Amino acid sequence: MADGAKVRTVSDLMTSDVLTATPSETIAEVSSRMGSRKVGSIVVVDDSRPVGILTERDMIKIAASGTDTSIAKVSEWMTENPDTVEPDVGVDDAFHRLTEHGYRHMPVVQDGKLLGIVSLRDLVRIAQIQPVEHPSLMEAPKGLEGVVVAETEIGDVRGQEGFYHYRQYNAVELAEKRTLEDVWFLLYYGHLPSKDELKKFIEEKRQYREVPEKVKALLPGIANAGDHFIPLDALRTAVSLVAYAQDYKPSLDIDAKELRHNALQITSVIPTLIMSLYRLNKGQEPIDPNPDLPYSANYLYMLTGEVPDPENARAVEQYQISTIDHGFNASTFTARVITSTGADLGAAVVGAIGALSGPLHGGAPSRALDMLDAIGKPENAEPWVRDAVEHGKRIMGFGHRVYKTEDPRSRMLKGVAERIGGENVEFAKHIEQTVVDVLAELKPGRQLYANVEFYAGVVMDKAGLPRDLFTPTFASSRVIGWTAHILEQAADNRLIRPSAHYAGPPPPQPVPDE
Ligand code: ACO
Repeated sequence: MADGAKVRTVSDLMTSDVLTATPSETIAEVSSRMGSRKVGSIVVVDDSRPVGILTERDMIKIAASGTDTSIAKVSEWMTENPDTVEPDVGVDDAFHRLTEHGYRHMPVVQDGKLLGIVSLRDLVRIAQIQPVEHPSLMEAPKGLEGVVVAETEIGDVRGQEGFYHYRQYNAVELAEKRTLEDVWFLLYYGHLPSKDELKKFIEEKRQYREVPEKVKALLPGIANAGDHFIPLDALRTAVSLVAYAQDYKPSLDIDAKELRHNALQITSVIPTLIMSLYRLNKGQEPIDPNPDLPYSANYLYMLTGEVPDPENARAVEQYQISTIDHGFNASTFTARVITSTGADLGAAVVGAIGALSGPLHGGAPSRALDMLDAIGKPENAEPWVRDAVEHGKRIMGFGHRVYKTEDPRSRMLKGVAERIGGENVEFAKHIEQTVVDVLAELKPGRQLYANVEFYAGVVMDKAGLPRDLFTPTFASSRVIGWTAHILEQAADNRLIRPSAHYAGPPPPQPVPDE
């Protein structure tokens, strides 16, 4: 490849040794050739005439679609008749053609025959902007859908099968058969506890339920700082304070044992912080944790000071178990990204709470219940939903990035809602069916069903939790998953630092004089 200022045309810097494929080859064959040659694209030729191109971006799409690559043919996935460039085209012109269309590679063609390939990287180099050498960049789809970014032993979601698991167990079965403390232990240690292990675990974390004194004194200020009380924002602030006051060290500087202590403390204290802040905002004194009650019953207890009805406590516990972990969702990924920088565990949990606060992630269950209120009666359901979808609105509590079938958490919580009863259950079932039918008609092929948040609202409402505590309650259990992921990330860390494809006007433009 030629170098520096002497280069004028594409022929000076194109790669002549270009990797090619034929339309009848399989994707698997071509993908392994691209991998071994470490190239980002392959030109598809028919008798040395370029008829298509396949890029890494296509490979990611193919992998995400679940296609059997040993059968799928190149001709089915290639971009046909790719734009090409002639060898005598000037470098600037070629650069503009690539950036204008967002291409990273372009075949170089003369008289219909393939001569070589020119890449954006080559052109950028000529513009004398020397990017640091790194292995060929892979382009991920928007929203990182279908991209695998790490290995985890904590759990996984199988969207097509409507199944998810914690470690080696079906998560729904755990929610049906075990306590939250059992599942918490499982997430941290990889196995369900023996009786002795569970006893020790409960004793160890009991002390951490108490809010540290220095933070306790500041909670009234946090609870009443805003004109409009948002419990999750208050929680985020208080969690940050606990980590700061307890002198949490960067995860990079401490051993696994100390980090695990931090994890146990933050996770144990979060329910107490939620309820203390809520009560303080209402002008009531916080209620100390009840040492005799398990996690979920104690959670409800700290709201009212009454030992809750066991049916309601079990319903909330099942909701909390079912939301402990769920693959690389936005908040879990956030916690892992922050941990990957070596930051302290408090920073990672605060960031995760921030990600959870968005309506597209954790902020939906109260909105789902608001929707039931807005619809009011069964006969309003169909026109209300139709009107909302036709106006481009999203129906809260429906749709999921990974599940393209019914969300197993929704199915389980529907059962819990039926068991504990309440005035909303039959109405909610009617709305669910209406939304599914209307979305199938107006958004065909998108496979939109109720997600965890739809029946979560109904269950929490019946258990006596106020609506503005729904998302904090989600945080109270998801923090177990976040901290398990933080511990896993820290144990085998590498900084998570992807790249972006710059799509603005081509630099460097001359900076205008003032
Ligand atoms: N209501 C109406 N249309 C929807 C809905 C919905 N709830 N969800 C998806 N769609 C439509 C979109 O409009 C889009 O249609 P289009 O192809 O005509 O543009 C199509 O389905 C695909 O939607 P995307 O936004 O690409 O799907 P994505 O995977 O990015 O989003 C999400 C998933 C954010 C959960 C989405 O379904 C949604 O906004 N749901 C409502 C909010 C909600 O319930 N959030 C809680 C999620 S569960 C959790 O985090 C614990």
